[in-house]
Amino acid sequence: MSDIQNQLEQLRRQIDEHNYRYYVEDAPSIPDAEYDRLLRELQALEEAHPDLVTPESPTQRVGARPASAFGEVAHEVPMLSLGNAMTPDEFQAFAERVEKGLGRAAAWCCEPKLDGLAVSLLYENGVLVRGATRGDGSTGEDITQNVRTVRAIPLKLRGDFPARLEVRGEVFMSKSGFEAMNQKALETGDKLFANPRNAAAGSLRQLDSRITAKRPLAFYAYGLGVVEGAALPASQFGRLQWLKTLGLPVSQEVQQRTSLAEVEAYHAQLLAKRNDLDFDIDGAVIKVDAVADQDELGFVSRAPRWAIAWKYPAQEELTVLEDVEFQVGRTGAITPVAKLKPVFVGGVTVSNATLHNADEIARLGVKIGDTVIIRRAGDVIPQVVSVVEERRPLDARDIQFPARCPVCGAHVERETLKTHLKTRVIEREGTAYRCSGRLTCSAQLKQALIHFASRKALDIEGLGDVVVEKLVDAGLVASPVDIFTLSREAILGLEGFAELSTDKLRAAILRSKATPFARVLYGLGIPEVGEETAKLVAAKMGNVDNIRLAPLELLTSIPDVGREVAFHISEFFVEANNWRVVDGLRSQGLNFGEPDAKVALAPLSFADFINKLDIVGVGPGAAEKAAARFESLEQLIKTAEDEQDLFNALGGTKAAAKGLFSFFADAANRDHALEIERRLLALEVHWTSERELVEEGGLPLSGQTFVITGTLSVLSRDEAKAHLEALGAKVAGSVSKNTDVLVAGEKAGSKLAKAESLGVAVWDDNALMAFLREQGVTDAQ
Ligand code: IVH
Repeated sequence: MSDIQNQLEQLRRQIDEHNYRYYVEDAPSIPDAEYDRLLRELQALEEAHPDLVTPESPTQRVGARPASAFGEVAHEVPMLSLGNAMTPDEFQAFAERVEKGLGRAAAWCCEPKLDGLAVSLLYENGVLVRGATRGDGSTGEDITQNVRTVRAIPLKLRGDFPARLEVRGEVFMSKSGFEAMNQKALETGDKLFANPRNAAAGSLRQLDSRITAKRPLAFYAYGLGVVEGAALPASQFGRLQWLKTLGLPVSQEVQQRTSLAEVEAYHAQLLAKRNDLDFDIDGAVIKVDAVADQDELGFVSRAPRWAIAWKYPAQEELTVLEDVEFQVGRTGAITPVAKLKPVFVGGVTVSNATLHNADEIARLGVKIGDTVIIRRAGDVIPQVVSVVEERRPLDARDIQFPARCPVCGAHVERETLKTHLKTRVIEREGTAYRCSGRLTCSAQLKQALIHFASRKALDIEGLGDVVVEKLVDAGLVASPVDIFTLSREAILGLEGFAELSTDKLRAAILRSKATPFARVLYGLGIPEVGEETAKLVAAKMGNVDNIRLAPLELLTSIPDVGREVAFHISEFFVEANNWRVVDGLRSQGLNFGEPDAKVALAPLSFADFINKLDIVGVGPGAAEKAAARFESLEQLIKTAEDEQDLFNALGGTKAAAKGLFSFFADAANRDHALEIERRLLALEVHWTSERELVEEGGLPLSGQTFVITGTLSVLSRDEAKAHLEALGAKVAGSVSKNTDVLVAGEKAGSKLAKAESLGVAVWDDNALMAFLREQGVTDAQ
């Protein structure tokens, strides 16, 4: 054999082995990227030697040219269907028939009932020669080209395979694959599939298998057809294990059970797992395990007496959309809610489903009066999946979004989405409609109060949605502040309150005044500020006055806070009404941080500050240069009056000089920059305080310059940077002879080479983590 042939064989063997580990053993041993690299290597080698390409090569899964129609396949052994049990009684009746037929108890093989498409795969001498659909059970369609594109289906068997082997199983689409595919389709404007089953069916029935090849299809084997040249294991379970040794994937959920009580437990456990599995199932298939017993029991019409599909409640059902109502949420978003003819789906009776927003209604093309498919999977809110257009009545009506809030009558406005660049905000139209009434809208007020009193916020026991509703409707509470001035009489006057419950609620309200600052902050309901973010912001900023004073450029130095979140925080405190609420709560004695708390962030360096101004032509490198050249912002602004001076001072960077010149030529920009500086000074995180620290040698890394490159394993680069800066280091963007340490993660490139050539110290990931741990950085675990 030639060298090339050897190399080809070796690559193919490696790829087949990884496929086996991935699909059959469910234990991949290399990352996807490495697998792709091997495949590309094989592809390149085959391209150079087209005469050496074999049909079983792993590269041959790309699909073939379209066929005009599928050929027919006569099944040598008919492909049967299964009887169903919908209830425990029906399953019991089946089991009794079996044990009566056998005259003794049976052992069982329990399997998930996969929700995809039955296929037959024929292997001759270990090579996949044909794939077929079930069809009517005796004749199916030839879908060989399509099944060849499914990576979980081996093109070649491994181990001790028989001369002829027909494997039966289910081709399906994983839930994650389905979601990813629909997401992509949404972006490209392609047609969406209603569910993984339809997507799998649609993909497998493509006449153009190049399309099938692009779909994330999977496969599990569950049975045999014709077999020639093998002594088969005596049980269904044994046969499935044997199929695994030949390279065919079998679901991990397949299990042997020896008593009916155990089978029932299996059924219940699989149901409990249903939503966590990455594939849809519609029941469990319970099979008599011993093949001799199966043979003894035989068949009735087209279904075996020895197996049954014990179904789970359907997760999709048909019903009629009778009306659409509009609900108003905490942030004023108006959500259309489908009012449905009650239908039993996913184990409960459903009469409401979310329609999300106007775009979703348009996408579904749904009208009032339509017959729709409803899906309820687990605890997920019921969804309208699609419309059955054939059943649209003549009097179907369009869904009209209201122009005024259904609760308070304020105008409804279409949300504007803001993209936050450093100093500019780009606005575009969003998908949500919002009520403009804010806290004057009782719906928004109620939601805000419920959030404020909720467990992770102020945790006021007894102040849940029902009581909030009563308080607002009675006109007793119009803002969170009013909660703290509620009189005993006022509460007593509410329906459902007696002496004891009134005193309890009052005590809970009083107790909540001791809530820590972080939770009070979370309770304010600032958009995008969850519990964890609130904790970080509270810890780093110390008190609410500091937060209000902090420029966006400083807020983004808080770990976890990006521009979007920083913007929401700034915007919240700019709003006079919100600030009134904060002041009111504070005068009620709520905790808004220590009055003279200091900001616990490293001072913003001058370079960082310049960089964050988002000036055209001024990146991190130019910002550093400018910071090194100028003593102060004022000096920079002064020099920037003349482009040539600036250019000279910067030592010849034209783009940066031009950018700085035109930026500072604008009075609004000058004022903005000076205002940020003023605030940084007030918060004591101005760069001069950093310089003082450096001079004092106050922090462990004062005066040290770090550069970070590559991918770190535990921290993100931004996190590592924040930690190093908090310890006094300057973190620069490029390596120079002034660099003290280069932190080099995975795939460090040219910076590492440069550092090495300059003799700069290099730390790997471990060294950095060890150092941070030594310095008491807690999330460096
Ligand atoms: S065994 C003789 N096992 O259910 C037994 N079928 O109504 C034939 N199915 O078309 C089928 N998971 O597509 C069997 N673990 C499983 C299954 C399964 C899903 C499907 C199959 C078949 C239908 C039977």
